[in-house]
Amino acid sequence: MHKHHRALGLATAPTGPVSGAEIAKRRPVQPVTLIRPHAARRAARFFVEKFPGRSLYAVKANPSPDLLRVLWEAGVTYYDVASIAEVRLAAETLPEATLCFMHPVKAEEAIEEAYFRHGVRTFSLDTIEELEKIVRATRGATDLSLLVRIRVSSEHAKLSLASKFGAEPHEVKDLLFAARQAADALGICFHVGSQAMTPAAYSEAMERVRAAIVEAAVTVDIVDVGGGFPSVYPGMEPPPLEAYFDVIHNAFESLPISYSAELWCEPGRALCAEYASLLVRVEKRRGDQLYINDGAYGALFDAAHIGWRFPVELVRADDSDARPMAFSFYGPTCDDLDHMAGPFILPADVGPGDYVEIGMLGAYGCAMRTGFNGFGSDLKIEVEDEPMATLYGADEERPAASNVVTL
Ligand SMILES: Cc1ncc(COP(=O)(O)O)c(C=O)c1O
Repeated sequence: MHKHHRALGLATAPTGPVSGAEIAKRRPVQPVTLIRPHAARRAARFFVEKFPGRSLYAVKANPSPDLLRVLWEAGVTYYDVASIAEVRLAAETLPEATLCFMHPVKAEEAIEEAYFRHGVRTFSLDTIEELEKIVRATRGATDLSLLVRIRVSSEHAKLSLASKFGAEPHEVKDLLFAARQAADALGICFHVGSQAMTPAAYSEAMERVRAAIVEAAVTVDIVDVGGGFPSVYPGMEPPPLEAYFDVIHNAFESLPISYSAELWCEPGRALCAEYASLLVRVEKRRGDQLYINDGAYGALFDAAHIGWRFPVELVRADDSDARPMAFSFYGPTCDDLDHMAGPFILPADVGPGDYVEIGMLGAYGCAMRTGFNGFGSDLKIEVEDEPMATLYGADEERPAASNVVTL
């Protein structure tokens, strides 16, 4: 079995760096979130330097103020916010940031507060009613950037965002025309679904954008290709992000838009998946089922409800010669739904008292925690080792096949 020691550092530790294994040695009773600011910084620099336009961070993926500051310092200055609470949080954390309210269905009061109190000027919409709402709430403002969200296919994505939002092709012409009258800058946006596994998702969506522009014959100032950029998980290894950027760049260059039109994207997952992982303790074993101290109501919502597979590593004092074996997890609440099917591959001798690190939980995992049944914890420790996988080229790779970390 692969031995791998990690150089983990406790951000506030007065005695210098401690390893993740050292953290496990302290036998934390509560799950511990391991935070990797350097991984988020690297992802942000990648987008800032290589995406052929502007990269907005989709705050919903992980609204941690610490993370927002890391992204800001790495050069991300625009933020996609989708609720008034996200507007307030982002405005308070990053007062200089440009906030874009990209939820197509907003409360009128939220639009009003965002515009008048927090300086938000960019809004998305997918109906005439929402357009009228924005005009009313901003009292006929003349400095708005309005992005019309169009419906595109989610067929290349692991998580569909195709049914809820987006104007249909037969609605787009009138909507673009009406939005053009109310907007200082007019944009078109879409979302191809989360974890899009091929760049073709974007080229196909851009064809929809082209058709909409041609049909409506309006001047478009912004094309926003949304989120959907993938991260890497077991069984989900996407092509390099540069391939996505090339496809988007080529499609954008060939659109019938003015020379000064801007290209935007709104990644959530891709910017923060590598930012956090979770150290959990096994409380009980029943055959191939491990009862751990976090679950569906904690950071493992996606693992439970949509069968998302996350990478795992056993962290224990002794090395293990046991063969790898597939496990499923039960979370700590009393609910049968608190079950993560996996499979999670760990040494066959894993048992109660062992610690397991569950990787790549920075996007959506940490953001969706609840305190249901009194379980879960806010304990976070900053570490310096590499995430279990990266799309951004680490200095020191973690061994791909490793699933044991010894103390
Ligand atoms: C409007 C919008 N933009 C961006 C995102 C971020 O998507 P992802 O995390 O797939 O990049 C989402 C996710 O739901 C979204 O709804």
